[in-house]
Amino acid sequence: MQAWVIGNWKQNPATSRDVDTLLEGLLTAIYADTKFSSNCCNLMVAPSDIHLAAVNARLKDTSVLCSAQDISAHSATTGAYTGDCSAQQVVDAGATWTILGHSERRQYHQESHECLLQKMTHAFTQNLGVVFCIGETQTQYDAKQTLEVIDNQLSVIKDLLDQQPDITVSLAGRLIIAYEPVWAIGTGKVPTVYEVSKTHQHIKQTVAGFANNLEDMTVLYGGSVNADNADSFALDSMIDGALVGGASLKAESFLAIAKAFS
Ligand code: 13P
Repeated sequence: MQAWVIGNWKQNPATSRDVDTLLEGLLTAIYADTKFSSNCCNLMVAPSDIHLAAVNARLKDTSVLCSAQDISAHSATTGAYTGDCSAQQVVDAGATWTILGHSERRQYHQESHECLLQKMTHAFTQNLGVVFCIGETQTQYDAKQTLEVIDNQLSVIKDLLDQQPDITVSLAGRLIIAYEPVWAIGTGKVPTVYEVSKTHQHIKQTVAGFANNLEDMTVLYGGSVNADNADSFALDSMIDGALVGGASLKAESFLAIAKAFS
């Protein structure tokens, strides 16, 4: 299975000029590094919607893919939903994937099970791949509720399949799970590789139980991944790549993580 390394730029960088600098740095580093083979690792970046079209234009004819960070829950296409951007609109801007269910969306926008079910449905109707984020808070981790929380969050996929059994065909190869413990995001704290591995194994088994063609689901780890710790995660066969926040904002560290998984 090819690894995935995805840079979630969140609400960064500040200006279009900074976006250009980041992208040029990344592409220059990729081309200059003879040891890095993009054939061994899928690389993707997720800029803000405002930068999607420009980033996609620059990435055309390169092997780096472009993802949105979110889409509207209200409509897959158009409508009176001020401030929203639909699945159709991000596809038009060049995104082939979208992140959904990031803990920052769950926390600051109160995204619920129903909301995520809507978003996932809209994504697949527009043939947009989904990087679905799940993970427990510090309190839930301390209370040893990780697997329970994750099962609950994964039930969005089960409900989608129950509602639309035909969608299974589009799901294969178009769904990635990113396990991101909330307490590890931007904190410098990380679970042990053993803990991540066990949790990923559980996620893979659970999703495989939803439908036959969802066996061997790609499961990424996210949360304080950096150039120094990427190797240890990459060595574990249950960890199929990384969803990277802070370290994806520097070309060198992002590429170092990609190399670890290549
Ligand atoms: P950090 O890599 O900055 O911890 O962020 C992880 C993340 O939230 C990626 O989606």
